[in-house]
Amino acid sequence: MKVLVIGSGAREHALCRSLSLDPAVTALHCAPGNAGIADVAELHQVDALDGAAVAALAAGLGAELVVVGPEAPLVAGVADAVRAAGIPCFGPSKEAARLEGSKAFAKDVMAGAGVPTARSYVCTTPAEIDEALDAFGAPYVVKDDGLAAGKGVVVTDDVEQARAHALACGRVVIEEFLDGPEVSLFAVTDGETVVPLRPAQDFKRALDGDEGPNTGGMGAYSPLPWADPKLVDEVMTSVLQPTVDELRRRGTPFSGLLYAGLAITSRGVRVIEFNARFGDPETQVVLARLETPLGGLLMASATGTLADLPPLRWSDEAAVTVVVASHNYPGTPRTGDTVEGLADVAAEDAPHAYVLHAGTRREGDAVVSAGGRVLSVTATGTDLAQARERAYAAVSRIRLDGSQHRTDIAEKAAADEGAQA
Ligand code: AMP
Ligand code: GLY
Repeated sequence: MKVLVIGSGAREHALCRSLSLDPAVTALHCAPGNAGIADVAELHQVDALDGAAVAALAAGLGAELVVVGPEAPLVAGVADAVRAAGIPCFGPSKEAARLEGSKAFAKDVMAGAGVPTARSYVCTTPAEIDEALDAFGAPYVVKDDGLAAGKGVVVTDDVEQARAHALACGRVVIEEFLDGPEVSLFAVTDGETVVPLRPAQDFKRALDGDEGPNTGGMGAYSPLPWADPKLVDEVMTSVLQPTVDELRRRGTPFSGLLYAGLAITSRGVRVIEFNARFGDPETQVVLARLETPLGGLLMASATGTLADLPPLRWSDEAAVTVVVASHNYPGTPRTGDTVEGLADVAAEDAPHAYVLHAGTRREGDAVVSAGGRVLSVTATGTDLAQARERAYAAVSRIRLDGSQHRTDIAEKAAADEGAQA
């Protein structure tokens, strides 16, 4: 099958890497891609938000499956345009992608489906905002209703900061604070059948010890040695299947990747947010462990045939990914710096550790930084401790002026795992 992947991040590099290892994938294209994806897929220029342009590119390439990576094209209706051209597409319709595109809509779906989540108010006026902030008290959780590239959520003890963010948002969701560890669980669905993947944990804050500002994600690992083995079954029954059923009942079936961001609270599992696409950087570690060929799985979602697919196969290995980010990320990142050491990783650390590119581009023979998150260095091992060691060994070979990365990705989980062994 000929596959076209839309997007240009480390998530898309991970998707392309796995697709390139699927014997059923005979040709792999990516648009717009990045310097690393160019090693496994043929790159094309396209405005990823322009459905007609993406559909025309797919038709021109003879693509038999289009995989839309990021949320913005999905929310803009790119999957609808591809399907309208008669090409199977992995990714939800514009209507179903509102699950990520509007937090108020997601809350409404969860209420309809009986899915456990934080109690919340949707506010549009200063009076409603003050009432909601008063009702919940500190810590305050204030969420922009719309897509905000990871910058829409403020969690703070400072009521003035909470109010200022709420007023700046226009339409805003104010909700109860959820405590407890966070888990990302992805499921592939065709609108009816739901196939959960393995849980992962993401590190959202910029600095070690969960300090500093929120980011798109600075690292991830899987499996979660501390999590209840029944977690996936429980989330399937209480969250994933009811949400998919509710969207189908509303006449807007959701097909593609349903991402549940969960808090494991003392009172049980609660949904923090839904996303309508693979998460970045969790995808890097989840796909590192998936043994079932990815192309067939995504095609089954796109063609409504997931019920016929045999159970997924998983490796017993653990996976860790560490994000290397530009100077000043998540503020305005500095770009155009040369990335060195990539060949050393390929020579010294492969196949257990490898570099997935995010914001990179080629400049002559050099690879230079072109975004906030530049690389996602991924490794597998017999346990988290080994995967972690390999990931950081590879990170230490990368040279990028002014770059930053967290040094504590999966540290605590690896220690928990050691204590259990
Ligand atoms: P989001 O941009 O929706 O992924 O949210 C960013 C982060 O804000 C989440 O990963 C949580 O760490 C935090 N957060 C969101 N909602 C809540 C909540 N209700 N209680 C506590 N933390 C939250
Ligand atoms: N890792 C968080 C996200 O993809 O939204």
